[in-house]
Amino acid sequence: MSAVKNNYLENKVAVVTGGCGGIGNAICERFLREGAIVYAADIAETAPRGPLFQKHDVTSEESAIALMNRVHSEQGKLDILVNAAGIEIEHTIEETTLAAWNRIFAINVTGTFLTSKHCLPLMRDAGAGSIINFGSYDGFIADPQLAAYCATKGAVHALTRAMACDHGPENIRVNAICPGYIETPMLQSFFGSSGDIETLKQEVRNVHPTRRFGTPEDAANLVNWLAGDEARYASGQLWVLDGGLSAQVQQMRL
Ligand SMILES: NC(=O)c1ccc[n+]([C@@H]2O[C@H](COP(=O)([O-])OP(=O)(O)OC[C@H]3O[C@@H](n4cnc5c(N)ncnc54)[C@H](O)[C@@H]3O)[C@@H](O)[C@H]2O)c1
Repeated sequence: MSAVKNNYLENKVAVVTGGCGGIGNAICERFLREGAIVYAADIAETAPRGPLFQKHDVTSEESAIALMNRVHSEQGKLDILVNAAGIEIEHTIEETTLAAWNRIFAINVTGTFLTSKHCLPLMRDAGAGSIINFGSYDGFIADPQLAAYCATKGAVHALTRAMACDHGPENIRVNAICPGYIETPMLQSFFGSSGDIETLKQEVRNVHPTRRFGTPEDAANLVNWLAGDEARYASGQLWVLDGGLSAQVQQMRL
């Protein structure tokens, strides 16, 4: 990872939900290096080092309003929103309780809706904006035992396209990045803690054409481009970032 300070996002104000998580934190650090003013908005108790911190529960409309009120009063505008807060549950639908189903939809889908909804007036006032949602390659093809998670990511993909259509005329671009396997606490929990995890992980790395997992910095590179003006004609798209995993013929792996 380069620690070079650039100015791609100079004078921009950004909010990153899930900004204390593996990917969200890497995005905050990258945005800071590019000259942006950055708010990490997360339900976590401890503020990350670097960005400004706002305790934010993405499932709460009051919390979304409070976050945007703070950004408005401190900065007068918002240019970039990254909806990176998310959870995963590793179950089939039979194993998924209604409460767990509602919770994952509340965070992954309703959370994206609410924070986006309340950021729009600030972006409209600024005359432009870039919203980057977190989908997943699991919104296109399914991993076993991730049924509710896959469903939430499919919903985020559809919401991304709809938001891009509605707000494009206001110069507000909306994209989703759709990662495969990125090395974060979420991926750690996916692999669990029992059995020979290192061997399993190496097998999974080996089915990637690039023979590795992505890093949070890989995700931050794409988010950074989408956030700034070089991506000014990019909107309504689902940007898969999976080291080529979903491009290959699956039978070749047998
Ligand atoms: N890691 C991967 O392999 C991978 C792959 C595809 C998509 N994604 C997506 O990328 C995004 C970031 O994932 P990650 O790997 O960094 O996960 P992570 O678990 O490291 O971080 C998630 C963050 O979301 C926060 N969060 C959870 N509930 C919240 C709530 N109600 N309000 C506000 N914040 C809340 C957590 O506190 C945490 O900081 C997620 O949307 C995830 O679904 C990750």
